[in-house]
Amino acid sequence: MEFLDKLVLPQSAEHISLIHFLLIMVLIPFLIFVSILLGGTFLSWYYELRGRKNLLYRRFAKDTIETVTVSIPVGLILGLVPLFTLILMYAQLLHTSSAITVNALTVSFVLFIIAFILIYTYRYTFSFQGIVSSLRNVIEKEDGIDTIVQKDVKRYSSTIPFLQMRAGLYGMIILFIASFFFIGGVTTSLHPENWDKIQSLFAFFYSWDVISRFLYFIMASMAITGATLMFLFFYWEGGKEDLDEPYKELVKKVAVRITLIGALFLPLLLLLNLWTLPKNALSGSVFGLAVAGIFLLFFAYHFLYAIVRGESVKSGGYVFMLLVLVFAVGIVKDQIAMNNATKTHTFQLHEQYIAYAEELRGTGAEMVAISGENIYNTLCVACHQFDTRLVGPPYREVLPKYDDDVEKLADFIRNPVRVDTSYPPMPNQGLRPNEARAVAVFMFERYGGMY
Ligand code: HEC
Repeated sequence: MEFLDKLVLPQSAEHISLIHFLLIMVLIPFLIFVSILLGGTFLSWYYELRGRKNLLYRRFAKDTIETVTVSIPVGLILGLVPLFTLILMYAQLLHTSSAITVNALTVSFVLFIIAFILIYTYRYTFSFQGIVSSLRNVIEKEDGIDTIVQKDVKRYSSTIPFLQMRAGLYGMIILFIASFFFIGGVTTSLHPENWDKIQSLFAFFYSWDVISRFLYFIMASMAITGATLMFLFFYWEGGKEDLDEPYKELVKKVAVRITLIGALFLPLLLLLNLWTLPKNALSGSVFGLAVAGIFLLFFAYHFLYAIVRGESVKSGGYVFMLLVLVFAVGIVKDQIAMNNATKTHTFQLHEQYIAYAEELRGTGAEMVAISGENIYNTLCVACHQFDTRLVGPPYREVLPKYDDDVEKLADFIRNPVRVDTSYPPMPNQGLRPNEARAVAVFMFERYGGMY
């Protein structure tokens, strides 16, 4: 991503640690949101498909999609904005490396926008469809309604469901692909040994590292979607009110089942992901966090089992909180692993940063290359001579004020201020600090003692 390289500044090792930290803070809510969006859209779509004649299923489909999408602003804040920030952060971390992470995330960003539009269309069409079909019922009973209106209502009430299912299906598939590229990009960042090898997004499809992490993501997505439903239907603020028994049973059954299936695979996949990490990514804290994740999962099983055994579904709330922690622990673990694995790259970036900072400061090797005399001869002679007034004052008159003070003169050169109103103001010559200093040194050397 060439254009991003221009936005990126060299970073010191301290800044890089800070970016890793920020990355964790952005990844946690983002990944949880995307997982729930993917799982929720799938569930809703599936039950809407099965629910043509079953009102309970339709109600579940509508409630689910409304729950997981929340609202458009929330979707933007939890989905698109963080993804954009993530791209910028990875561009900083992987600056000058050959990793295709940033390209993968950019592709996933574009796909994500499309998926987002489709899924929210699917969501809002539920209400729209409700309105049109009630209208149809009313129109069929009333006489004297314009036949064109009648026709339109009839037509829309039969095409809308079709369009809606399309929007849901494509939205879901595109979100699935977007997530795959996202996970692929993030996984690549953990494997510097593959940066040169994985040079196209298609390579993700046969990279075992990517596939195992994506499987983890899918299972985690199922688990957290089910847990979110339990949390919001039965736990949050005492649970939803108007839930009649059959509906409650359905929600409970579906939510518990998908949470259970997802969560059962997680420990295995977690270990598999640990195993695929490069050796230099592993450290005590990476292992520690993996173990902590597995422990948390066992706690979650405990509460899930309680629900299956027929105890209060309220425990679903705890399952949700535990799974959020599992996400957080997994993400922190991966960032530590990335930090470990990319130490060499971080060091290179740090070296570049030092060179860059020295150039700005004007110390170090860079200094030798800058010639005060050259700059003076190109920029200053047009307006100044030693003892004649040109556009600017003769140096004989103005230099004594500076009393051989290089810093003071360099300051004026960098930032000319109004001095003598019988002259026009001196335009800023756009010199860097070290260049201005070099000119000042040269001027004192050349004219010193002549006034
Ligand atoms: C476009 C014409 C122009 C160029 C180019 C220019 N100067 Fe000047 N310079 C002026 C003018 C006009 C003044 C008087 C400004 C005033 O008194 O407000 C001035 C004033 C100064 C002064 C006197 C400041 C004081 O304290 O009275 C110094 C020193 C100076 N210039 C240095 C330089 C150096 C070094 C360069 C080259 C890097 C340079 N100038 C390039 C027009 C120019």
